[in-house]
Amino acid sequence: MTLTPQWLDELRARTSLSTLIGKTVKVQKAGREYKACCPFHNEKTPSFTINDEKGFYHCFGCGAHGDAIRWMTDHRGLPFMEAVKELAAGAGMEVPAADPRAAKRAEQAKGLHEAMAAAQGFFEEQLAGIDGGEARAYLARRGISDAIRRTFGFGYSPDSRGKLKSALKDFGEPMLVEAGLLIDPDGERDAYDRFRGRLMFPIRDIRGRVIAFGGRILGQGEPKYLNSPDTPLFDKGRTLYNIDKASPASRQSGRVIVVEGYMDVIALAQAGFPESVAPLGTALTEHQIERLWKMVEVPILCFDGDAAGQKAAIRAATRALPLLRPGHSLCFATLPAGQDPDDLIRASGPRAMEEVLAGAQSLIDRLWTHEVAASPLDTPEQKAALKQRLRARSDAIQHPDVRAHYAHEFRERYDAKFFARHPTAAGEARSFGGGAPRWRRDKRGNWKPPTPPAGAEARAIGEGGMEQRLLRAVLASLLRHPEQIAPHREQLSALRIADPALAELLATMIRCSFHKETVETQALLTILGQGEVYNRAKGMLRADTFSLTPYRMTADPGRVSRDLEEAIRVMAQGPELEAAMVEATKRFEKDVSEANFAEQQRIRALMADHDRRLAELAQPEDGI
Ligand code: UTP
Ligand code: MN
Repeated sequence: MTLTPQWLDELRARTSLSTLIGKTVKVQKAGREYKACCPFHNEKTPSFTINDEKGFYHCFGCGAHGDAIRWMTDHRGLPFMEAVKELAAGAGMEVPAADPRAAKRAEQAKGLHEAMAAAQGFFEEQLAGIDGGEARAYLARRGISDAIRRTFGFGYSPDSRGKLKSALKDFGEPMLVEAGLLIDPDGERDAYDRFRGRLMFPIRDIRGRVIAFGGRILGQGEPKYLNSPDTPLFDKGRTLYNIDKASPASRQSGRVIVVEGYMDVIALAQAGFPESVAPLGTALTEHQIERLWKMVEVPILCFDGDAAGQKAAIRAATRALPLLRPGHSLCFATLPAGQDPDDLIRASGPRAMEEVLAGAQSLIDRLWTHEVAASPLDTPEQKAALKQRLRARSDAIQHPDVRAHYAHEFRERYDAKFFARHPTAAGEARSFGGGAPRWRRDKRGNWKPPTPPAGAEARAIGEGGMEQRLLRAVLASLLRHPEQIAPHREQLSALRIADPALAELLATMIRCSFHKETVETQALLTILGQGEVYNRAKGMLRADTFSLTPYRMTADPGRVSRDLEEAIRVMAQGPELEAAMVEATKRFEKDVSEANFAEQQRIRALMADHDRRLAELAQPEDGI
């Protein structure tokens, strides 16, 4: 039974997707679309949208996406034909009877598969026979074991124009041409064997069926590798060499390694990395990236450290950006320049390969490093151009959440590089402080802030932004509750504040707190006189300045004290974390090891937590 694309389109058009989904899930109208809590993942606020016009559903949370048929197969769990029959019944459509042409196509594909299997048998026999001596010697020279030879099914195509053709003559010439095994010169001359005098690598589909061949020349000559043309069985751009064995192996190891060549996959398998695949002489396609993501969320792409290899890495990164979705990414391992994995393993062993893999860079780090190195950054124009390039990168991402995070992280790295107020945060050499890391790890490996919180080396608390907002709330709270200054004096003294008026206001408050047991708000204002500092303080006392402690709770001195304590701590932490990040990044850039990478990631996570807490404190829901 076959269904034409036109018939399926008609079926989709006659099906109201929102009604269909509404049968099992509660949907709400939202403008021209419908919304629901996503039935494919657990959520409380709806991020699942249904577009009847386009006939698609899409979840912005988990990326679930599909049409009516997909809904029936993925949500209801029906087999494809069952899904179609049920939808057709609902739409009042007849499911067409079996199509004789399609039946013929299926029959033909079966024939092609059989022809490929027969060719595989023929090539293997040849490798084992008298003609195969040179190829066997070649394999031995490259150190390929018999076990690996059998696993990968190596063969040999004899140096003749007609041996395969006559061995497989029962299939008929047209089928052998269609399978890519014979070349048809389109004229008076006869078709002849495509692969002659080559070591043969069968290329298999996910089910392990041979769908194409690669043939390597044994000596010198061009082309080094000859591949099957695209055929009804073989689409280069959708195939990965060794997918049939790498796919189950990846489930064991949780890892997939993508390399450039056949021989790399084979060397890796022999060295104990069975989870490797290679595209077939072309750059990775979207299909291949999607295929990799079916195995693991973050496949490791290996590239030569030379210029061509790094260009290829960026090409792969560029291709992946629009496809990114939550959890799914790529990472990039860089081989020593001029070595492929086969060379590396031969020269330095599997451990060296393992180290290369452990040093893989995340996609965002790879892009950042690339863009920063892409042009000089001496002039303001060049610096601004970097921002534009980063922006173009994040704009290429289609998934809104992933895009937002890339944009945010690029912005932060960019600001830290060019706008940080202090040398440590600017990524320059630390000019004072002795260099002992001020953040330390406890026994369980968690990062702990330094004690006491030293403000001297970190940058000052910024002007503007969330930190400044929080700082003003802290100062306002202290103005309203001057008795709170003395208990927090130590932490307050450690704060470094960029805005001179606010710095002076705080210094004055601290000074007063030494003189008098209890300072009155009014007395403080009098001491401040009539200048800029006084005006700022007055402004803070206006009722519409947001309050650190919700007004209805300000009668509780314990609450006010606790809120102040936390706000001061959070303010001091931002610059501390940034300085720790700069250190960790420097260490990572100097020594690209897994440990250094993990350390940097841990600080990044702490920074993200910190940003979240800062935002919560600076914009409390019941602030006024
Ligand atoms: P390389 O030229 O790097 O070869 O091509 P290799 O993998 O190191 O092979 P050995 O070690 O010399 O045997 C990398 C890949 O590019 C494709 C093949 O898929 C190859 O594995 N290629 C290369 C071709 O398709 N045709 C060619 O002529 C050359
Ligand atoms: Mn090689």
